[in-house]
Amino acid sequence: MKNSELIVYLVENKSLGKLPQKQLLADLGFKGFHGETAFLPETPSMYLGLELKPVKTTDPFYKIDYYALGAILGTKLRSTKYRKLQIDSKSLTANLDPQNCLDLALGVRQGAWKFTKFLKNEKEEKGQFYLDFGVDMGKDWCSKLDALDSGISLTRTLVEETPEDLNPSMISDLVKSEVGRFKNISIKIHDKADLQKMGMRSILAVGRASIHAPVLVHAVLKPKNQVKSRIVLIGKGLTYDSGGLDIKTGGHMRTMKMDMGGAGTMMGVMKTLGQLELENTELHWLSAFVENMVGGDAYKTDDVITTHSGQTVEIWNTDAEGRMTLADVLSYATSLDPDSIIDAATLTGACIAANSDYYTGLMGNDEILINGLMDAFISTNEPTEKNPLPEELRQYVKGEISDLVNTSSLKGQAGHITAGLFLSHFVDQNLFRFPHGKVNNPKCYPWVHLDVAGSVYNSGHNQLKTKGATGQSVRGLVEWILTLDKRN
Ligand code: BES
Ligand code: ZN
Ligand code: ZN
Repeated sequence: MKNSELIVYLVENKSLGKLPQKQLLADLGFKGFHGETAFLPETPSMYLGLELKPVKTTDPFYKIDYYALGAILGTKLRSTKYRKLQIDSKSLTANLDPQNCLDLALGVRQGAWKFTKFLKNEKEEKGQFYLDFGVDMGKDWCSKLDALDSGISLTRTLVEETPEDLNPSMISDLVKSEVGRFKNISIKIHDKADLQKMGMRSILAVGRASIHAPVLVHAVLKPKNQVKSRIVLIGKGLTYDSGGLDIKTGGHMRTMKMDMGGAGTMMGVMKTLGQLELENTELHWLSAFVENMVGGDAYKTDDVITTHSGQTVEIWNTDAEGRMTLADVLSYATSLDPDSIIDAATLTGACIAANSDYYTGLMGNDEILINGLMDAFISTNEPTEKNPLPEELRQYVKGEISDLVNTSSLKGQAGHITAGLFLSHFVDQNLFRFPHGKVNNPKCYPWVHLDVAGSVYNSGHNQLKTKGATGQSVRGLVEWILTLDKRN
């Protein structure tokens, strides 16, 4: 065996007794529970525990997580010489179907991934990991692995990038090179002048105090065959959120480079699907890239803004800027007459308080869409909590001198939900107002909002067990789109 090869045994607690190295493993304190590892350098081999501790739970995310297990391996092995992992299939009780193998292989790569741009002494990853399952996984399997890996890595890179190195002025080149290079994807970047013509007053207001003018990205992925359905993906793209005049204090500004995590997620999905291609689904991605700053011409608390939809919003807090930029993009998205609209946004601290930074908060106006996405996130084991949008709370986002307010008069309560209710006003054309947003045959569009404030960038409570950018939700969204595309 070449010295860069390592055998990986996936084992359970209940079958430890059958293993030849059972004594050695016992001496190392290895029990075979989920995520445990034991490294035997003489062989060389690595034992990886699979078994879940028995608990009585209805949690759909409590199951063997091959992606998380792979990430544990990747993190442990990134600084070693081992790159070829031979997955032992003899002693094993693992269900290594192609999906589990893909999750494991992807987890290894993502666990080994690190944002090293500013670490001059950090060794770059020493080559790609190769997992040998003892069978040929086939070309499609390999393409899907590579596509997801590159998409998730892009999302994580964008989220980690500093506000200086990723600002609205740079988006055009970046999107064209990362997503526009696929032959099935076309890109249109709307600049400030376009946004003015389009009536995107809310996006322009939020970005006004920045030296970088806002841009709206519109990417379209055309399917191979006749279009049978249309999906619009929207991502919040605040390249920096200082809070604006309601400036973030007490350390809360730190990490706000990640406030474009929703846009980064959708860009990762586009990059992945640009490589995999769709049969009959036309996929759109819209993100306004904006910087929320302070300055003499900053938008102000007390301003009333007439959004693209014609609905007016009184600004109660300039730090609730994400929903303002999303408002314009959502109503614009309805003009594409899609079958469904999904947005991902690092929208509220309240979502983290309610759901933890492990879970995405999912809410929407369409039960089929909500359940379809929940099923996708369960299948990829990306923790997602279904949150309600109760009608009783809608009154708290209504204004007195305006249609809406951009925070909520229900102080300190369910801020992620009132934010979701605010957004719901911009996918329902029945609420659009003359003369700005009047539509002839108004429709309320099926829509889901993902509050990814915690899950896209967190302090370590994620599957990869790493701090910072997680890439969470890319796999679930890709899976959901692929499943719908097959059903077309
Ligand atoms: N970008 C923040 C939300 C956020 C907070 C994301 C923490 C990730 C971690 C958003 O623009 C914001 O500032 N929201 C405010 C809303 C409030 C003013 C109603 C918040 O959550 O405090
Ligand atoms: Zn904010
Ligand atoms: Zn924000």
